[in-house]
Amino acid sequence: MKKPILVVTSRFVTLVETRLDNEFEVRRKPEGTPFQRSELLAAAEGADALFVTPFDRLDADFFARVSPSVKVISTYSVGVDHIDLLAATRRRIAIGYTPTAVTDATADIAILLLLGASRRAFEAQDLIRTGEWTLPSSGALLGWQLTGKVLGILGMGRIGQAVAKRARAFGMSIHYSNIHQLPEEKAGDAVFHADPLALLAVSQFLTLHAPETEETRHFLNAESIALLPHGAIVINTARGGLIVDDDLIAALKSGRVAAAGLDVFEGEPKLNLGYLGLRNAFLLPHIGSATVESRTLMGMVALDNIEAVLTGTPAPSLVTPQY
Ligand code: DGY
Repeated sequence: MKKPILVVTSRFVTLVETRLDNEFEVRRKPEGTPFQRSELLAAAEGADALFVTPFDRLDADFFARVSPSVKVISTYSVGVDHIDLLAATRRRIAIGYTPTAVTDATADIAILLLLGASRRAFEAQDLIRTGEWTLPSSGALLGWQLTGKVLGILGMGRIGQAVAKRARAFGMSIHYSNIHQLPEEKAGDAVFHADPLALLAVSQFLTLHAPETEETRHFLNAESIALLPHGAIVINTARGGLIVDDDLIAALKSGRVAAAGLDVFEGEPKLNLGYLGLRNAFLLPHIGSATVESRTLMGMVALDNIEAVLTGTPAPSLVTPQY
């Protein structure tokens, strides 16, 4: 039987690569280097489906020009801010994503950032690696404990809830803001704030887990930062676009925000170079979902979505209708 033609824009873990080889006729660039827009459109000519990542921007122009042969596009991510869903729907192209596959890995990274930022892990590492740790000092590198502090969670979906569960084990009290208040079995003792700005006022630690949309873009800016308690700590594992980088950098410089832990950046893999000179910024290169387990599941779910749409069976996770 003829295998479906699949355009693949990256390289994946071994199990996913094996499945790609076995089940699809794969079109990709050598070494999995990224496609330019024109190359991606050319590769999609006559293809059945595309398997993409958040680094592939699929906007209205892309959907206006993409080959009519394409029936489904599956992204290797829970975030779909890189895809114009309305334009995809107009072209009757189903969009698959991987909402459940990244939850635990990303929540773990949020906790790593909470601890890394609050316990000044970058500065501590630097002291060791530069050989500058010479004298014992009881006053050096004092951080801030999580115990007894308020953790504000913006976006209480799967990842926000998984972070709350972990943070409770550190003795933090949880406050959250979300489009909808959660039922008690999901929210537990977490305090709901209908107004996200009211959440800021109580958040000694603030962690962002909202998708990037028109409404949430640049949510954290000079004005909203001014609502945080003095010396708050800011964590972001969601999308860099939620933050106005220059404003957070200014707040980190002045100490208005004591520290930040960031895994995502607007315009990544480029980032605002202002962060690099800050010793109170604990920075990671978007590794929220980077575990073997999570990346394997993400790939499998993405391919399940593609196969289901192509065979006309119910797909596990589509963000747009299946035609
Ligand atoms: C996601 O799933 O959206 C992550 O950010 C990608 O690693």
